[in-house]
Formats: sequence, structure tokens, C-alpha cells
Amino acid sequence: MSRWAFVTGAGGDIGGAIADLLAVRGWSVICADIAHDRAEARAAAIRAAGGVAEAVYVDVTDEASVAAAARAALALGDVRALVNNAGRAFAPTMATTDYASWRRDMALNLDGAFLCIRAFQDHLLAGGGAIVNMGSVNGIGMYGNPAYSAAKAGLLHLTRCLAVEFGPHQVRVNAVAPGTVRTQAWNERLAVNPNVFDEVTAYYPLGRVATPAHVAAAVAFLLSEDAAHITGVVLPVDGGISAGIPQLSAAITQGH
Ligand SMILES: NC(=O)c1ccc[n+]([C@@H]2O[C@H](COP(=O)([O-])OP(=O)(O)OC[C@H]3O[C@@H](n4cnc5c(N)ncnc54)[C@H](O)[C@@H]3O)[C@@H](O)[C@H]2O)c1
Repeated sequence: MSRWAFVTGAGGDIGGAIADLLAVRGWSVICADIAHDRAEARAAAIRAAGGVAEAVYVDVTDEASVAAAARAALALGDVRALVNNAGRAFAPTMATTDYASWRRDMALNLDGAFLCIRAFQDHLLAGGGAIVNMGSVNGIGMYGNPAYSAAKAGLLHLTRCLAVEFGPHQVRVNAVAPGTVRTQAWNERLAVNPNVFDEVTAYYPLGRVATPAHVAAAVAFLLSEDAAHITGVVLPVDGGISAGIPQLSAAITQGH
């Protein structure tokens, strides 16, 4: 019997890459997104490539919508993997964060994962499975967007809490924490500064920013049998930036 994976934000760049790779690895994939046309397109592309995929509409910030999406997903098949990937940053600084925008960052980046986990947890706990939450280096250190960062930090800690609570039921819960990934989420910043990727790349130990495929590979690993004994971890996919910054290290050591 096929195993299904429910991937939120699968109409986007990282979520799409995750859906593609999971399909190649033998998962049947539910592409869930608020942008239903893009989720449909992704599912159709996976089917055209020989995989199994369906699209389901979801607004992860809406409890009723998540419940309906989970019902639709479980009617399709045996969901054994949940990837809480939908997310984006809103307010860039504390000065631009009012309570409404704080709530938007929290709702999408933390509440959304909570609602999806709640919607699937009875099914997962009854038969085992794995959850991967899409964190960010913003949940570990300060890289702008304080409300988004606080939400991602909350998501990383929820990951650890649920790994402990769900472990006895053979449900593994892990997170990935990407650094900069070249996706459409950067379009507004690119419009302001066409060199933004070159500027941020200079700080990365590996001298490049990630592609969606780099992140998808980590997610697929954490869902796979190769990660059968791994739970409660946050796996940075960040070109080394959470370890340190080369220029800062050089400035401190002054060549000695
Ligand atoms: N791009 C980066 O540099 C970067 C870095 C670290 C973490 N991330 C995280 O990766 C994830 C994916 O980001 P991306 O760069 O692929 O962005 P993206 O904009 O390409 O994809 C995000 C997807 O989420 C969907 N979405 C938005 N609101 C939704 C909602 N309420 N319900 C359901 N779906 C919704 C969008 O329609 C879109 O398809 C996010 O959680 C983001 O925080 C991205």
C-alpha cells in the first residue's frame, strides 16, 4: 500500500521541490497550498513524470480549512508524512511590526504548523510516521524579521517537544533550518536590490546560497528510513552560516 505525504506550501519553490523529490522516492504526494492553481500544476507535473500526486486546497491559518484538507487527504490514502513548509516573513524590523503584522507572522509560521499537526496527529500516532517542520536560521539567530524569527524559533522548540511526546508512538518529528534559498519569496527584495543574492552570498562559508533542491534533499532524508533513529533534531541547511561568518572570523583573528 502506498504511503502518502502531505506537503503544505507545495505550490511554492521549496515545497514544490520537496513534493517532486518525495514522489521520486516513492511517496504519493498531496500538494497542499492556498494557491490552489499552483498546487494543481505541481501535482500534474509529478503525475506527468510518472509519480502519484493530488492537489488539495488549504489555508494553514484557518482551522476549518486545515480540518477539511486533512479529511480530503486521509480519504485519498494513508498519510504517514507531514511536511509543514508553508510560510513567509512579513514585517522586516521591530519598527515595522504592529500587532496585526505580528499576528500574521505567528499565524502563518507557527499556528499553521500547529493546526496541521493537530489535524493529522491521531492518524499518525495510531500507525507511526514522520513530521518535518520548515524552520529557518532565523529561528536560531538574528537575520532580520523579528516576528517571523520568533515564530520559527517557536516551531523549532515545538519540534523538540513533539519528538518527545510522539516518540513512544513511533512518530518522528524533526525540522530543517535553511539559510538563504533562492526562491520567489525573495522577489520583493530583488526588486529593491538586484544584487541582494550576491550581497548575502558573501557571508556564507560555502560561498553560495541554497537551491530549493538542497532543502528538499534534507527533508526527504529526515522522512526516510535512513533517518529511522533521528527525532527532535534541527538540521541546518545553511551553507554553514549558523556555524559562523568567515569575515567576522578573519576580523577577529587578524590573519594570525
Ligand atoms: N526562501 C528562503 O530563503 C527561506 C529560508 C529559510 C526558510 N524558508 C522557509 O521555507 C518555506 C517555503 O518558502 P519558499 O521560499 O519556498 O516560499 P514560496 O513563496 O515559494 O512558497 C511558499 C508557499 O506557501 C504558500 N502559502 C502561503 N500562505 C499559505 C497559507 N496560509 N496556507 C497554505 N499555503 C500558504 C504560498 O502560496 C506558496 O506556495 C517557508 O516556511 C519559509 O519560511 C525559506
